[in-house]
Amino acid sequence: MHYHMSRLSIAALALSLGLTLALASGQAPSLRTLANERGLLMGGAISSELFNADNPDEAATVNREYNAVVAENAMKMRAIANSPNPGNYLFATADAMVASAQKNGQTVRGHTLVWHDSAPAWIYEIKEKAAMRVAMTQYITTVVRHFGDRINIWDVVNEAISDGPGNPLRNNNPFAVAGPDFIALAFRTAHAANPAARLYYNDYGVEGLNGKSDAMYALVKGLLEGGVPINGVGFQAHLDTNFSVGDSGMQANLQRFRNLGLEVQLTEVDVQMVGNGSEKEKLARQAQVYGELLSTCLAVKCSAFMMWGVSDWTSWRAGGKPLIFDDGYAKKPAYGALIRVLQMAGK
Ligand code: XIL
Repeated sequence: MHYHMSRLSIAALALSLGLTLALASGQAPSLRTLANERGLLMGGAISSELFNADNPDEAATVNREYNAVVAENAMKMRAIANSPNPGNYLFATADAMVASAQKNGQTVRGHTLVWHDSAPAWIYEIKEKAAMRVAMTQYITTVVRHFGDRINIWDVVNEAISDGPGNPLRNNNPFAVAGPDFIALAFRTAHAANPAARLYYNDYGVEGLNGKSDAMYALVKGLLEGGVPINGVGFQAHLDTNFSVGDSGMQANLQRFRNLGLEVQLTEVDVQMVGNGSEKEKLARQAQVYGELLSTCLAVKCSAFMMWGVSDWTSWRAGGKPLIFDDGYAKKPAYGALIRVLQMAGK
C-alpha cells in the first residue's frame, strides 16, 4: 500500500511539475487538446508524406495537432479498386494510415465511396443498370466491411450535384447508370455493411446560401423522406481569401441542414491566398477567414473541422498557400486564429 501511495504521489508530483513547467514556459495548447475538450473532430487530410522519414515534421504536426484524419487519396476507388475483383483490392496504404491513426488516438473519416472523379476505367465500361448496381454494391460492401469499426464515418457519395444552372445531378457520373436512385443505393449498401457508421453526403461550392446548396438541400431532404440512412452533410470548403463567410449566408445555410436533424462537418477546408496586398495582409485575411469558418461551424454545433492537408508545401493547391502551417511547418496566423476561436468558444 505504502509502495503504491508513494508511486502515486511521485506521479502526481511529476504531473504537477510538468504542468507548472508547461505554464511557466508559456507552452500553448494544441488544436487537438482544445478540440478534445469541446468534443470536436479537428484535423486534416493525410498522404504518404506521413510515412516519409525524410520529413518528420509531417507526422509530428499531424500527431500533435489533429485528433482526426482522412486519407487524401488512399481510400478512393481508383486507389483501392483498379481491378473489379474484390480479391485484388489494394488496402495497404489505407491500412497503414488507419494503424497510425489508431496508435495516435485519432478518429478516421472514410473518404470516399462513390465519386465520379475517382472511378476507375472498369466502371466506365459498365453500361447495364443491373451490372452497375452489382459493381457498386460489391465495392461499397467490401470496402466498408474491410475497415469495419475502424472507420465509423464515411463520405458515401461525393460531388454528385452539378455546378450548372438548376443544379440537378451532374451528367458525367458513371455511377448514374445504376438508376436514378444510385445515391440511395449507395447509402443503403454502406449502412448494411456497417450499421454503426455515420454516413455523409459531401460536396463543394455549397458553403453559402446559393443554387447549388439549395439543390443539395432538396437532395438530402428527399433522401431523408425516403427513409434513406443518411446522417450528415460534409461541406468541403475549398475557398480563397475573397470568400466572405458573413455575406455568403453560411451560418443560415448550415443551420437549415442541422434543422433537418443532420450532422454538419466542414470536411476539406483550405483558403488560398489571393488578391493584392502585402504578404502580411494576406496572411491576416486568411486567418480571418479560417477563424470565421470555425466559429460558424461551432455556432451550428458542427461535429468536425477538417483541413485538406497539413502544410502549404504538400497541399494539392500549394501555389495558393491555403493551409495553417507554412512550407516549413511553422504555424501561420490562421493557426492562431483557430486556437483563439476554440479558446473563446469555451468547453
Ligand atoms: C484531391 C486530392 O487532394 C488530390 O491529390 C487528387 O489528385 C484529387 O483529389 N474534393 C474532394 C477531394 O473530395 O477528394 C479532392 O482531393 C479535392 C476536391
